[in-house]
Amino acid sequence: MKTQLLPADEHSIAQAAALIRAGGLVGFPTETVYGLGADALNPRAVLDIFAAKGRPADNPLIVHITQWAELEPLCQANEMARKLADAFWPGPLTMILPKKEIVPPEVTAGLDSVAIRMPSHPVARALIRESGCPIAAPSGNRSGRPSPTLAAHMMDDMAGRIPMILDGGPCDVGVESTVVSLTGDTALVLRPGGVTPEMIAAVLGECQVADSVMRPLKEGEAAPSPGMKHKHYAPKARMTLYEGSPEAVSARIIAEYDALPAAEKGLILAASGHIALYGQRNTADLGPDEWAAAHNIFAALRQADADGVTRVLSESYPESGVGLAVMNRMARAAGFDLVQV
Ligand code: TXA
Ligand code: MG
Repeated sequence: MKTQLLPADEHSIAQAAALIRAGGLVGFPTETVYGLGADALNPRAVLDIFAAKGRPADNPLIVHITQWAELEPLCQANEMARKLADAFWPGPLTMILPKKEIVPPEVTAGLDSVAIRMPSHPVARALIRESGCPIAAPSGNRSGRPSPTLAAHMMDDMAGRIPMILDGGPCDVGVESTVVSLTGDTALVLRPGGVTPEMIAAVLGECQVADSVMRPLKEGEAAPSPGMKHKHYAPKARMTLYEGSPEAVSARIIAEYDALPAAEKGLILAASGHIALYGQRNTADLGPDEWAAAHNIFAALRQADADGVTRVLSESYPESGVGLAVMNRMARAAGFDLVQV
């Protein structure tokens, strides 16, 4: 299969919508990362998403809509959902709610809840509207690879496997949406993202964060979200995250880097303000703050792979605000190899 990479304009969006209606798969931009979409109410099309990604069958998909009226047939809404939708939709927030009959079990991997998101990206919105159906879409990477934040990343992973990718330029947020479960009495963040726990608590009065967000699951522990079980975001290189004062962290990273055997190719991930500390060593600049780091992290991990890097040594971010989302992705990429210095 040849994969068409088309600039996202009126004409290509109409073509993509026709593909979706016919049960096909389309790569498309959202404000978080690129997604791999299909008609959420077509079980065969949904199964094709799993096949194209090599995604484990037990990891459910997010259903994308453009307005509140489209949510009601899909799930049982509640007061928390209405308040969060008012505050943050359209935007990088996914809500887990009890599913209704119409949602095929292929989408939810057999769970009795469904993940719903209303993206803000104009191309995503136009595609859903013109398709005339809710669109199931995981991130558009091959399973286990960093999520795509450029159409070129999606081409790298999906060329030859899907008929079309819409190019809408770089994604704004750069990490996947916040996933919040609203099936209990209080909101519970299962995956941190651009809508932070602090922002959710400001609207609902309370918001919990699943503690598996910043640590590996224990042997035999049930995952609150199936996505937590699987290896994720992993570069080919071995990666370690260093936490501590900026001075101590940079000194330790430099020592580790300089001690690498000749056969290893090292890469240091650092904030803009620290890059000069590393001199001529191989660095990737994650930008001035944690929002920039969210925007840049997946591209940096992909570049590391493309450059044949075997060892990634990374600075850390405070686990507050969007820093929690950055640290969640980096900790998973590092297989939770966190070192306190
Ligand atoms: O920003 C995003 O959310 C992107 C764009 C394309 O919208 N999509 C995305 O999808 O990141 P995906 O499939 O890569 O991640 C969905 C996450 C997974 O961790 C999955 O386990 C979790 O949401 N999830 C989906 N349905 C769930 C459910 N019913 N209960 C708990 N977790 C669920
Ligand atoms: Mg994903």
